[in-house]
Parts: sequence; C-alpha cells; structure tokens
Amino acid sequence: MREILGIDVGGTGIKAALVDVESGTLKSDRHRVDTPRPAKPDAMTEAVKRLVGEFDYDGPVGCCFPTVVVDGHARSVSNLDEAWRNVQIDETFERATGLPFVVINDADAAGIAEMQLGAGQGLGGLVIMITIGTGLGSGMFYNGQLIPNSELGHMAGKDGEPFERYASKRARIDEELSWPEWGDRFNAFLKRVDRVCSPDHLIIGGGTSKKFELFQDCITVQTPIHVARFLNNAGIIGAAVAGADR
Ligand code: BGC
Repeated sequence: MREILGIDVGGTGIKAALVDVESGTLKSDRHRVDTPRPAKPDAMTEAVKRLVGEFDYDGPVGCCFPTVVVDGHARSVSNLDEAWRNVQIDETFERATGLPFVVINDADAAGIAEMQLGAGQGLGGLVIMITIGTGLGSGMFYNGQLIPNSELGHMAGKDGEPFERYASKRARIDEELSWPEWGDRFNAFLKRVDRVCSPDHLIIGGGTSKKFELFQDCITVQTPIHVARFLNNAGIIGAAVAGADR
C-alpha cells in the first residue's frame, strides 16, 4: 500500500487527505479550508502550506487545480484571481512546503480517480467525466488515456455565455433554481457535449452527482451515464494517484 497526500484546490474550498493510491481509500480525515478571497497566489499558497502542515507527511504531494494546467503552470485563471495566470504552481507550492508537487487540472484528476479506481474502470472508447461544482469541469479519456485540459464547461451556450455560468452548482445556488430548472440547463450542456464529442460514456461527478435522482428525469442524452463513485473526493484521490508518479 502506498499513501500519498492529495490536495484538491477548488474555487470555494481547499481539501486534503492521505490516500491509499492502490484502492482510492482515504487514510486520514479530510482537512478543509475556505479558498481565500480574493483567490490570489500568496494567500492560497499560505492556505496550502497550512493544510500540508496539518499532516505528519513527508513525500510527494499530488495536487489538482481549477484551471488549465500545462507542465505545472496555470494557463488560465477561471474562477480564481487573474494574478494566477502563468504562475508555475508546482514550484510555488514546493517552495512554500518543502515537498515535491505534481499539479494537474481538477476535472482531469477526478477523471483519473474514476477511470482507474471507480465508475470508469474498464470503460473503453471516449469517456468524458463532467464535474459539477463552482465551475463545470471536464476530463476526457480515450481507451483509458487522459487527453488533458479539455474545457467543455467553457463552450458557449445561451446568449454566448459559457455553459458553466448557468449550468454549474454555483448557478443553481446563486439563482435559487429548482432541481428541474437546473436539470434542464445541465441537460442542454450534456446534449452539446454529446453533439460535439460523440462520447461512448459520460461520468457525472462532483458533490451534485450525489443528488442524481433529483435531476435524472431531465437528462435526455442517449449516451450511457455513470455516476461517479468518489463524488467529492475524486479530485483528492486522482491528484494523489498523479502524485504517486513523482
Ligand atoms: C475551469 C476548469 C475546471 C472547472 C472545475 C472551470 O471554471 O476552467 O479548468 O476544471 O472549472 O473546477
């Protein structure tokens, strides 16, 4: 058994736990802090350092981040502060904590967890994981191989606005939408994903997927839909799996 510290940096909270990367089981409590506002590099790095310090851990850290991440740097800022653009995230967190970091996109991490250890095990062809949270994330896999940094939540939907502006969990809460109202919007998003990418399978993840039965009736796409196994913990687990390669 190999235990790796996984950290999921989100637009709302930063969560960490020790993970058995062979089974995906959490081997510690989940520790969480609110994402500082404004979500600037210094404040967030301090929060990550504090979280890491809560664990008696000395090894590689896997971390997922809610932006496009190319070779450890932020190529977009999404729901975070503009100051993150082009920051070398892995080196920034390494300097602060003294531990080696692997940093990847959060929906890619969630997809890795599900494909290797969860609902996506054994699924071939094109599999797309959608995470419903502050944003709408996507993780794309072809025959199990990650195609990194897809950003399907940024496709233009109604009035040219990115889909994630009105079909994410944040939109549901901010606009006080009923489940059917939000479900119709989410279904419009899935229909677009289906039309543009023709996936063989869709995996729905993020905390909202726990409530699948509340919006299931709104979903009309024909592609088989799987509900994620690891729900809120998929990011932490997939990040730890990625960190284990370091
Ligand atoms: C970001 C994605 C991220 C998703 C979920 C979006 O706003 O652009 O990179 O995966 O939110 O956090």
